[in-house]
Amino acid sequence: MSHFQTNGRTMLGYLTDPAGPAGLRLATDLPEPEAKPDEVVVEVRAFAINHDELNLIKRRPDGWRPGQDVAGVVIAAAADGTGPALGERVVCYLDWEGWAQRIPVPVKRLAVLPDSVTFEQAAALPIAGITALRAVRVGGALLGRRVLITGATGGVGQFATQLAVASGATVTALVSRPERTPDALALGAHHAVTSLEDPALGPFHLVLDGIGGDLTAQAVRRLAPGGHLAWYGNLGGAAELRLADFYAQGWNAHIVGFISPVPEDTLGEDLAILAGLVADGRLTPDIGLTLDWTQTPKAFEAIESRTLRGKAVLTLRD
Ligand SMILES: NC(=O)c1ccc[n+]([C@@H]2O[C@H](COP(=O)([O-])OP(=O)(O)OC[C@H]3O[C@@H](n4cnc5c(N)ncnc54)[C@H](OP(=O)(O)O)[C@@H]3O)[C@@H](O)[C@H]2O)c1
Repeated sequence: MSHFQTNGRTMLGYLTDPAGPAGLRLATDLPEPEAKPDEVVVEVRAFAINHDELNLIKRRPDGWRPGQDVAGVVIAAAADGTGPALGERVVCYLDWEGWAQRIPVPVKRLAVLPDSVTFEQAAALPIAGITALRAVRVGGALLGRRVLITGATGGVGQFATQLAVASGATVTALVSRPERTPDALALGAHHAVTSLEDPALGPFHLVLDGIGGDLTAQAVRRLAPGGHLAWYGNLGGAAELRLADFYAQGWNAHIVGFISPVPEDTLGEDLAILAGLVADGRLTPDIGLTLDWTQTPKAFEAIESRTLRGKAVLTLRD
């Protein structure tokens, strides 16, 4: 049993609704969370949205409760005695239900925040930061190695660029257009390019690709022998690969079909690593848009129109 008393109260939170802006409706009558023994209850202070949630919301138009990236304050500790205490500030990686005033969170899916990390910075971390951190690990030791990041100024790409730089790699950022070049260099990338056509690029020990389409085959042609490509997204459409793409120079190279939430048991541990890197200045979430949470549909418009750089964060008042 949770120590949190629901007392039949209701709260605000988003539901999917095809008639609403961005397929969402801010409901006023959601039931208060009922926490399981290994869950805390968090009062949400900020959340972020992700590109893939555009698709998730369309796929589940029936009153489903979205929301994966959340930061807030623990208002009820876990009944089994594990996890953070009442009043601790936390960041959480959820599968759903995060865009509400109060939410239940399994202890293994959260990390306590250092004092210097703001709720807004923390909310930007879960999906995008964990994807970047775990995808960077696909390359093993990166000190002195060449790394290519596609979509380098996007939600995942900005973290991947900074983490690869922090690991000692020489990073080439692929950006969608020349105007994004200064942003990529500000993230620490050593070079920024708008295409992979130049055969002098690479060879790359590691490629992180969230775009797919024609870029994936081009990136494989720039891999070093035995290199790795972590393929985590296909915003640019389906990719077509030929064996000959590996024979350009990436002999015995590997493509990893990458998914970020696995393994689940160490999500909290990895969130703590990201929050620690933010606290000591090695990682700075690039937040291109901050709005009150009642403006969430506007934030989705910024993603869909590709005007957003970095992450969009929504805030809730105390
Ligand atoms: N496998 C996983 O576990 C996992 C986890 C997280 C995300 N993802 C996937 O990763 C992808 C990126 O997610 P995100 O949240 O980082 O998205 P995002 O914040 O919208 O960033 C996307 C980036 O890619 C660029 N881009 C978009 N479409 C492009 C195209 N057709 N050609 C070239 N560049 C393009 C954007 O450039 P502009 O600046 O010009 O818009 C932006 O820099 C999505 O497909 C998402 O579903 C997968």
